[in-house]
Amino acid sequence: MIDKTAVTDHPIEPALAGRWSPRAFAAEMIDDTTTASLFEAARWSPSANNLQPWAFIHGARGKQDFDRLLGCLNDSNASWAGNAALLVIGIARSTKADGSVNAYARYDLGQAVAHLTFQATALGLHLHQMAGFDREKTRAELGIPAEYEPVSAIAIGYLGDPSNLPQPLRDRELATRTRNPTSTFVFPGRWPG
Ligand SMILES: Cc1cc2nc3c(=O)[nH]c(=O)nc-3n(C[C@H](O)[C@H](O)[C@H](O)COP(=O)(O)O)c2cc1C
Repeated sequence: MIDKTAVTDHPIEPALAGRWSPRAFAAEMIDDTTTASLFEAARWSPSANNLQPWAFIHGARGKQDFDRLLGCLNDSNASWAGNAALLVIGIARSTKADGSVNAYARYDLGQAVAHLTFQATALGLHLHQMAGFDREKTRAELGIPAEYEPVSAIAIGYLGDPSNLPQPLRDRELATRTRNPTSTFVFPGRWPG
């Protein structure tokens, strides 16, 4: 199994450093207790006015639900995500109860997914988020109401063997992870210049 733990400039928590987005997943499934813990972590995420404007639709590999979710991904993502143990669609409630726009809905969904992500890492799982899916097809196929917006897809599973991936994906799997230095996006006091 490959280790793509972040090489950090400053110490961070192991569950943060150890997270990365694989495309090779093991055949092993995720038990129901573990799946429940993932969504429980999302549940306890903070949100603007505690509106909790998130929802998740999930399906485990081998079930019809999984195939329906897989069919909503673009071809490139579907080529590897079918090996994940669990597929999830992250959904934001874009409007508040009074019909006005909730400007923080996607922000809050993202934060809930971050909570889910680090719970997953702590439980030995890996997760790969995807923007590459058909939103209208997802809405229609999964029966998502108009006031909700499918925002991201997520493949979750235990790490697999990258040598099982086709060549271009294997190269990406083995590529070094890179990040901008904090000096390019963290500014003391005011915007630089
Ligand atoms: C919102 C979002 C959308 C993404 N969409 C895709 C995608 O459609 N396909 C894909 O292969 N990876 C996708 N990724 C994964 C990113 O490419 C990946 O997180 C990034 O390259 C950093 O790599 P790391 O997660 O291994 O640190 C997405 C990630 C996020 C957060």
